[in-house]
Amino acid sequence: MQTKRSYINGVNPEPQLLKEGAKWLQAGELVAFPTETVYGLGANALEDSSCAKIFAAKGRPQDNPLIVHVSNRAMANKLVEVWTPQAELCVRHFWPGPLTLVLPKTALVPNVVTAGLPNVAIRMPSHPVALGLIEETGLPIAAPSANLSGKPSPTSGSHVWRDMKGKIPLILDAGACSVGVESTVLDVSGGVPTILRPGGITLEQLELVLGEVRVDSPIEGQAPKAPGMKYRHYAPQGEMILLMGSHERVVRRLGQEVQRGHSRLKKVGILCTLESASSLHSLLPDLLFVLGSKDRPEEVASNLFEGLRLCDERGMDLILAEGIEEGGLGTAIMNRLQKAAGQRILYI
Ligand code: TXA
Ligand code: MG
Repeated sequence: MQTKRSYINGVNPEPQLLKEGAKWLQAGELVAFPTETVYGLGANALEDSSCAKIFAAKGRPQDNPLIVHVSNRAMANKLVEVWTPQAELCVRHFWPGPLTLVLPKTALVPNVVTAGLPNVAIRMPSHPVALGLIEETGLPIAAPSANLSGKPSPTSGSHVWRDMKGKIPLILDAGACSVGVESTVLDVSGGVPTILRPGGITLEQLELVLGEVRVDSPIEGQAPKAPGMKYRHYAPQGEMILLMGSHERVVRRLGQEVQRGHSRLKKVGILCTLESASSLHSLLPDLLFVLGSKDRPEEVASNLFEGLRLCDERGMDLILAEGIEEGGLGTAIMNRLQKAAGQRILYI
């Protein structure tokens, strides 16, 4: 299949490009589009056969459900059976934006979308292209991140192009995504609201509005409530080690690990904070990628997936990543880094 990459204005999207995207979606095809978090791979959420194409294009396991994106509340109402008071609060405070709500689904939502679960995950993105495209299509749009399964989520049109070229008819490219990590997935279907995946809206922000909020920590051997959390996501091709500890110790240990890597003839990449960059430069790593200042987690979040992807593209055999402090957006960042590193986390 020939893939067209159309550059679209991210602030005032060109109406004819939105129309072109809408035409493909209405015809049951896939369109990749930007959201404020990451790029989505969209399909008509009401049609089994369209959604099935998402799983095929991504190589995604069938038991991992999809987030449905809406552009207005009336559209959301058709998909959700019961709006709990907590859900209403979330809508008022955080929509449109990087918060996905898990709520009981209506019969209109096909089982392929929820992977057979009784609840649907639903989100109203704030990106003008995403909102405009959904509105123009007039349909709810099922969209996972537009990466190949097992790759870091795409935060630029180039990332999508690399993963989806030849697999879908259209990519709407509006450049870089502002948030850079995926939405927070919050179960507000009843009881205490529970974060199933940390993301763009922080625990602290949710607590201010909702009071008590739980964080789902999947029990070993038990399926997590957000099925996607069980997969080793965001995994780079090289071996990755995440280093946690005081700044001085981490910098010293990075030096040792770079030497060890080089003595085994490995190409070594470092993902670090701005504060560490100058001391790490002299280690002569094969790639030194500055994620951003440790005091500006928004910056780190928006650069994170670009850094991981670059390590793959440049063929790093060993990737050493400096951790940042948990809390706020730091929690979502560390969640993604830990997943990318698998079990290889050094506390020093
Ligand atoms: O920011 C985002 O959320 C991006 C953009 C495109 O909106 N989308 C995204 O989708 O990250 P995806 O498919 O890569 O991740 C969706 C996550 C998975 O962990 C999935 O298991 C969970 O949400 N999820 C989806 N539907 C669910 C449901 N009905 N119940 C529980 N978890 C669900
Ligand atoms: Mg994903």
